[in-house]
Amino acid sequence: MSEANRNISILCIGAGYVGGPTMAVIASKCPDVKVTVVDINPERIARWNSDHLPIYEPGLDDVVRSARGRNLFFGTDIVAGIQEADIIFVSVNTPTKMFGTGNGMAADLQYWEKTARQIRECARTPKIVVEKSTLPVKTAQAMKRILDAGNHQNRFTVLSNPEFLAEGSAVNDLENPDRVLIGSDATSEGLAARKKLVDIYARWVSRDRILTTNIWSSELSKLVSNAFLAQRISSINAISALCEKTDADISEVSKAVGMDSRLGSKFLNASIGFGGSCFKKDILNLVYLCRYYNLHEVADYWEGVVRINEYQKERFVVNMLGNMFQTLSGKKICLLGFAFKAHTGDTRESPGIFIARRLMEEQAELIVTDPEAIENARQDLAGAQGNIRYTEDPYEAADGSDAIALITEWPQYASLDFERIFRSMVQPAFIFDGRNILDHQRLYEIGFNVFPIGKPALTHFHDEPDMTA
Ligand code: UDX
Ligand code: UDX
Repeated sequence: MSEANRNISILCIGAGYVGGPTMAVIASKCPDVKVTVVDINPERIARWNSDHLPIYEPGLDDVVRSARGRNLFFGTDIVAGIQEADIIFVSVNTPTKMFGTGNGMAADLQYWEKTARQIRECARTPKIVVEKSTLPVKTAQAMKRILDAGNHQNRFTVLSNPEFLAEGSAVNDLENPDRVLIGSDATSEGLAARKKLVDIYARWVSRDRILTTNIWSSELSKLVSNAFLAQRISSINAISALCEKTDADISEVSKAVGMDSRLGSKFLNASIGFGGSCFKKDILNLVYLCRYYNLHEVADYWEGVVRINEYQKERFVVNMLGNMFQTLSGKKICLLGFAFKAHTGDTRESPGIFIARRLMEEQAELIVTDPEAIENARQDLAGAQGNIRYTEDPYEAADGSDAIALITEWPQYASLDFERIFRSMVQPAFIFDGRNILDHQRLYEIGFNVFPIGKPALTHFHDEPDMTA
């Protein structure tokens, strides 16, 4: 352990999906470092202090339990937290701005700036301020200007340390990261602050995986990493539409493409579209930055990734409508899963939200099931016009329905008793597999009309004229 890091006190402002797990892992790996997480939302903090954490992440309960009360604390006293800390991580949300210039595109930095001002007002000793939230490149400059305004010159050093954890595997991603990225400026204060943070991560991450860069590269790399990941999904989803027209099979194409070691096989699963709080927000943020710098061709290129994603979600609904005889009115549709991906209860930007709303526009009745996301689904669909029911039991959800639309790739859905489900459904029974995780041939043999993504449909209507084309 580095002598310099003994008795360091860390504060994180923002106890969300990023701040909470990140600080829990730092605390568990560095028992001598005091880690405090604060938030303006007292209910969220109360849950971090309870047995029922505010987010579901495999392994997180154990990590929190091992450190909470020892060197990990959750609270609401932001002022005291700022005064005590040596290093302050800022992990408040930076949603897409929904007003004025940059409406629907730019990052809304109001919480970020408010937090910077609060740090400046409350701090009595020098602080290292770490950008954990994903931010537009050059935010550190604005941060520094705010922090240094007035009589507080040079007491703050700003670092960028973006988080690359993915939900559902957050604890593993934090414990075994591909890389930790730390950006700083090249001044002696910047380099000294950077070393302090490197030494903390080096407790459990090998130094060759701790990458140090200039601060703008670090800020930009986070946006670009998410844009590249999302781009791969939009690329494969675009090709899935072509597969459906040409009898090619997207799983076979994806495998053939992914076996090229230059490309790699990850993030090539065709789907109903990507969701989650980051991809769309970060790409739009990148697009906005490009437009700001008059790089319109570059902006158009990246905007295409989001456009294909919207197209893929709409295509899924249009496909359901077309294949269910052009009317969904009064039909019962079971949404199998609602989280934006498996192993999380998070539904932010879940394709399920869009699909549910569109199906209700078509006057379908919905039954939503998910093992972890029912609470969030209720909130997302509150106020939507129409008939929706919720249950955690997939069999109850499918009972009496005309169609199943698989939204989330929960592994347990692949091993459901589909014979039982088929018998409980209205005939003809339809299944639309938005994640290609089911055994389509077997479902067809049971009697379902099966519609995967990017593969030929398997239907029992072969001998009848196609009235829907
Ligand atoms: C957020 C950002 O969305 C993301 O861009 C960034 O990379 C990390 O922080 P996440 O942790 O998923 O991601 O957000 P969220 O779960 O909404 O948590 C943010 C927390 O900050 C909330 O609990 C909110 O109450 C808190 N907050 C917000 C403050 O404590 N102070 C504020 O002024 C605003
Ligand atoms: C992402 C990044 O992976 C992470 O590094 C960053 O810090 C935050 O944003 P997350 O949003 O939690 O993480 O989930 P991710 O696993 O990337 O999935 C995003 C969406 O893409 C999900 O809706 C997922 O279902 C979808 N997806 C992913 C596909 O549709 N196909 C794939 O092949 C992979």
